[in-house]
Amino acid sequence: MATYTTRRDLLKAGVGSGVALLVSWGRLGAQPGPLIERPIPSTGERVPVIGVGTARRWEAVTTPAERALLREVLRQFAERGGKVIDTAPSYGTAEAVVGDLVADLGVRASLFLATKVGATGRQAGIEQIEASFRRLRTSRIDLVAVHNLRDTATQLQTLRELKQAGRVRYVGTTTSSPRQYPKFERTMRTGTLDFIQVDYALDSRGAAATILPLAADRGMAVMINLPFGRGRLFRAVQGRALPPWASDFDCASWAQFFLKYIVSHPAVTCCVPGTSKVEHLLDNLGAAQGRLPDAAARRRMEDFIDRL
Ligand SMILES: NC(=O)c1ccc[n+]([C@@H]2O[C@H](COP(=O)([O-])OP(=O)(O)OC[C@H]3O[C@@H](n4cnc5c(N)ncnc54)[C@H](OP(=O)(O)O)[C@@H]3O)[C@@H](O)[C@H]2O)c1
Repeated sequence: MATYTTRRDLLKAGVGSGVALLVSWGRLGAQPGPLIERPIPSTGERVPVIGVGTARRWEAVTTPAERALLREVLRQFAERGGKVIDTAPSYGTAEAVVGDLVADLGVRASLFLATKVGATGRQAGIEQIEASFRRLRTSRIDLVAVHNLRDTATQLQTLRELKQAGRVRYVGTTTSSPRQYPKFERTMRTGTLDFIQVDYALDSRGAAATILPLAADRGMAVMINLPFGRGRLFRAVQGRALPPWASDFDCASWAQFFLKYIVSHPAVTCCVPGTSKVEHLLDNLGAAQGRLPDAAARRRMEDFIDRL
């Protein structure tokens, strides 16, 4: 059983406290079997709808015990068919930890590594991207996106050259701030992007007004950040039971409720919930399995959250 393997692995790694995390595995977590996938419009390559984000919890990794827990997160992620890992040079230790652990686990070929460039000026951008190659310990990065529209035209030019050279497979832009949406939309309308990344959550649905339909029209893959509003949604439902109709779309937890809402949007390609815990990872991957809510169920979910 995976649980025993994992417990043994954790104990071998000297992470005794990790055992407490194992208690509810299997109750909420992803079941063995395939994950729902979506195609990237520019190539047709398919990726699972749930990935993992590395902001915050991966940013200040100092001890071997912290590293061992994240190694287990990545090991389970790859073993369960997970692919998309989102990171950034501005996330402290995150890029280097991902690069080291992926190399250590020998799983690079099965993963889709997404990072960002957030620099001003051509040379500064190039240096930052080259540092990402070194930290991620890879000769080809799957996606590099301009972080929060910083010096977009300059950095996109460099990214397109890297794509042409075969070192970067996809290029894009990101935002997580509604204030940037008008500028973000202009960038989407004027350029060719493989991916956009934007915030979208059950209680923060602004991206659905124009950005998501525009991405569908322009043939751009959509990666969703902040799917839980950095935990805000969990606080909103604290102490509440899932509504019984959540089982109509095979939803066993609040995390799956929030994530299934996102990935059932027809324009969404994938979503990268941030986590540093195996228990949460497995819970989140469960949102890429079973039935998804239809349009009527999605409206019911919106009503539910809006009434809280
Ligand atoms: N502009 C940009 O480009 C931009 C901006 C923001 C974020 N991002 C990307 O998007 C990713 C997601 O955003 P985020 O990590 O800031 O916020 P988030 O995914 O909305 O929320 C993360 C929080 O939810 C908790 N969590 C995760 N799974 C859970 C579960 N199943 N049950 C209960 N709690 C759970 C995590 O804690 P645990 O660690 O304890 O699980 C963490 O506190 C980032 O990691 C980053 O890769 C990009």
